[in-house]
Amino acid sequence: MTKEKEAWGSRVGLILAMAGNAVGLGNFLRFPAQAVQNGGGAFMIPYLICFLLMGIPLLFVEWSSGRFGGKFGHHSTPFILDAMDKRKFWKYIGVFGIFTNVAVASYYCYLESWTLSWVWHSIAGSFSGKTQLEVAEFFGNYVGLSSIEPIIFWIICLVLNTWILSKGLSGGVEKAAKIGMPLLLIFGAFLAFKAITLKEGVHGAINPGTLGLNFLWTPQFESIWSIKVWLAAAGQVFFTLSLGMGSIQCYASYIKKKDDIALNAMSAGWMNGFVEIVLGSAILIPIAIGYLGIDQVVEMTKSGGLGLGFKTLPYLFEQWGGLLAIAAGVAWFGLLFFAGVTSSLAMGTPVMGFLQDEFGWKRGNSALAFGVIVFLLGLPTVVFFKYGVFDEYDYWAGTVSLVVFALFEIILFGWVFGMDKGWKEITSGADIKVPNIFKFIIKFVTPLLLGFVFIMSLPEIWDKITNKALYETLAKTTDLTEIANLETTILFVNISRAGLLLLWLSIAYLVYYAYKKRIKEGRFTS
Ligand code: ALA
Repeated sequence: MTKEKEAWGSRVGLILAMAGNAVGLGNFLRFPAQAVQNGGGAFMIPYLICFLLMGIPLLFVEWSSGRFGGKFGHHSTPFILDAMDKRKFWKYIGVFGIFTNVAVASYYCYLESWTLSWVWHSIAGSFSGKTQLEVAEFFGNYVGLSSIEPIIFWIICLVLNTWILSKGLSGGVEKAAKIGMPLLLIFGAFLAFKAITLKEGVHGAINPGTLGLNFLWTPQFESIWSIKVWLAAAGQVFFTLSLGMGSIQCYASYIKKKDDIALNAMSAGWMNGFVEIVLGSAILIPIAIGYLGIDQVVEMTKSGGLGLGFKTLPYLFEQWGGLLAIAAGVAWFGLLFFAGVTSSLAMGTPVMGFLQDEFGWKRGNSALAFGVIVFLLGLPTVVFFKYGVFDEYDYWAGTVSLVVFALFEIILFGWVFGMDKGWKEITSGADIKVPNIFKFIIKFVTPLLLGFVFIMSLPEIWDKITNKALYETLAKTTDLTEIANLETTILFVNISRAGLLLLWLSIAYLVYYAYKKRIKEGRFTS
């Protein structure tokens, strides 16, 4: 229906775009914080097992489902899933593959805009001469919107994403990945080198950089008995590989039907693994532990990696002095920016694919629609950041939805579409021999593990729904301002959830409408 035919320009471009989709802020901020919070070396074994038994199999499933749907001209999960089975409800499961991208992009692009702003402030010397507390206050004022600057950087980011998306896959997304990924690797290698060679007593460091590395890499086998560590590891594997989002399927739907997916999926997946495991563990934590020690870093990552990344690191870079401090700031926030933008572009494509496939929208208009939707949905995360709206989006869209969608899609693939057909999809055109064991893993191991993760997460999900932690804090608080603050937070948290639910239902309605339209136009090809 759409006149502009999208396609990948080259294999390298496709792999870099897919790797760029996966490599994101999650690799450099979320991963180190999760690792530290779950005991450092204690995290790594569950993480690697989840990577092998859930991450890799799901990559095969999502890449091959995407290429399969693409054969019928479907580029977003509602109709990709619909093509895999005759039962009508799958397309509503596919709603997750648009919902998650839109909802995650709504807070992710704001985060992305901080990185751009912090590059600018590193060059402008805004952190120089400031104490650690003053740099932290700088961050507080920024997210507290004490000036218009955060809005300006956020809009710049949205416009940039929209513009790149409007150039199409080969003319926009692929080019961005070809520029962004190599620069990210160069910046990352420079920072990892500086972090690992950090010496005790030099530039004010109290520990060598290797202390943090050892903390992350000394295995602790007893962790395999901790459910909490397993859940965190599984969540991280999902987020970092962009699994259960719908973006991999969308990118893969533009692959030609005879082209390889097995080797491509492995290349992109392992590239992400390399960036996460090697670079992701060699920068933030070694530098932070070098200056602050393990205990303080464990304390500071309790609420995630953002504080350490945006409040602490700029201050620590300043200890290196002069040009080196500027170079480190530009490298760190530049790296985060490239990681972020190549991921948010991937969040835009499923929405665009849906609008183009179902409503015949032009590429430019559908890119604009994505920009406008993210602006509108993102506005509450920007304006009411301090009331937990941002975190709420992250929890429901960036954590729970991924697992729910992945669970459904692996059941569809292994049990409904069927493993025989599925295996043919994975291996047809493959440039590598996919080990047969994956047939068994995809059919039994991954769904069981996923089901286990989901069931074990239910108590936490229930606590979230009932706002348990917030009410507990409220019960202990006597300060009136603090009480008012908590009550407002609870209100905003509830409104955010209702908003997300409404978003999901609106997309489901659009899918229903598109389905009826297809029937009317006799456009069903699957
Ligand atoms: N996979 C992306 C990241 O790690 C979303 O940030």
